[in-house]
Amino acid sequence: MMEAYILEWLNLLLRWAHLIVGIAWIGSSFYFVWLDLNLNVPPRDPEDEGVAGDLWAVHGGGFYHAQKYKVAPGELPKPLHWFKWEAYTTWLTGFALLVLMYYVNADIYLVDKAVADITGAMAVWISLGFILASWIIYDLLCRTGWNDVWIGLAGFLFLVAAIYFISHLFSGRGAYIQIGSMLGTIMVANVLMVIIPGQRELVQAKQRGEEPDPLPGIRANQRSVHNNYLTLPVLFVMLSHHYPMTYGHEYGWLLLIAIFSAGVLIRHFFNLRNQGRAAPVLIVIALLILILAAFIAALKSRAIPDREAATSSAQPVEPVSFSQLQHVIVQRCNICHSAEPDHPTAPVAPNGVMFDTPEQIRQWAQRIHDRTVSNRTMPLANLTQMTDEERRLVDRWYMAGAGVE
Ligand code: HEC
Repeated sequence: MMEAYILEWLNLLLRWAHLIVGIAWIGSSFYFVWLDLNLNVPPRDPEDEGVAGDLWAVHGGGFYHAQKYKVAPGELPKPLHWFKWEAYTTWLTGFALLVLMYYVNADIYLVDKAVADITGAMAVWISLGFILASWIIYDLLCRTGWNDVWIGLAGFLFLVAAIYFISHLFSGRGAYIQIGSMLGTIMVANVLMVIIPGQRELVQAKQRGEEPDPLPGIRANQRSVHNNYLTLPVLFVMLSHHYPMTYGHEYGWLLLIAIFSAGVLIRHFFNLRNQGRAAPVLIVIALLILILAAFIAALKSRAIPDREAATSSAQPVEPVSFSQLQHVIVQRCNICHSAEPDHPTAPVAPNGVMFDTPEQIRQWAQRIHDRTVSNRTMPLANLTQMTDEERRLVDRWYMAGAGVE
């Protein structure tokens, strides 16, 4: 218990740190993309030779004048700020969280025996292997020399295949976080392996007094563009565990592809807008995709087997009494959802949700129904082995008005 409690605090600190450095990284990356697309070319106010564009801005009570140089300035200034620790620390804290949450409790968070019969240890190795493989494949793809559209298209098809495959191997939630970890790793590896080395070459050439080769800069720029398009989808995946209606859906993989595509379109809209080109149609398409996804998801929620048969049969269905329902909840849920939980992974009631009293059960009725019937994401990893029969019972109780008398 003590150990789980300490892990919970560690989790808090890591998640907090991950969010802070992630904001610093994505924030500075958004800022530089915006800056690049908003430079006045030619510069309005060239002070220096070699200035390719400039920009004036006012922020926080002061005026700022930024200038961008073609390849590099005549003489390297000191100090020169690099932006890399934001990205590295985002990966380090993210990976630590992945280990602490998903690897330490792999049998709960990564494995779903109803999806694939693998062990927790296998899931961890698969996860690590896929993270590594995704970077290798992506990097090779970028080095093919194909044009950007082909690389983008091939990358997207690869991602679709990965999402489908991983969703048929891991739990819904585990699959989403795995995809997020792969994409996040690609983004940080782009910074570590291509963008920063490219910049270093540029700087070293200047220090040797040579004209820098523009190629590393071009290559770094390509990776930077990829990272830019990945930001919104990756941010969604990192929040997705709050939305069991997505990852818990039978077609969770399809929903992820839909949300991913919408994120890329929205990012593209902003990139065009920053260049002064309005393309509201992109936002409209993105919204249509999201609305359609939500609509289809609602139509085809993961039905419990023969719910239709039960409701359409001519025989009147026995009403469910509250004591029957409460019996199921106590048996299947209260080991975690109670003021004094007994499960090793739950030092306190998860999300503060307890089912100790009839009032608490009534208060949470809709969510209880969502999580046990609509998307079947509770009990966690079905650790307490709730049966279909019991899920039907929850369904009938809820449909009959969720009474607690
Ligand atoms: C092994 C521990 C465990 C068991 C057993 C368990 N849960 Fe949970 N439950 C969790 C955890 C962890 C979370 C928080 C993460 C999440 O939302 O997926 C959670 C979250 C929830 C939530 C979401 C609360 C919110 O903030 O929206 C509901 C509702 C819920 N559980 C219902 C149930 C029901 C009903 C059962 C029994 C049929 C059950 N749980 C059994 C661990 C458990």
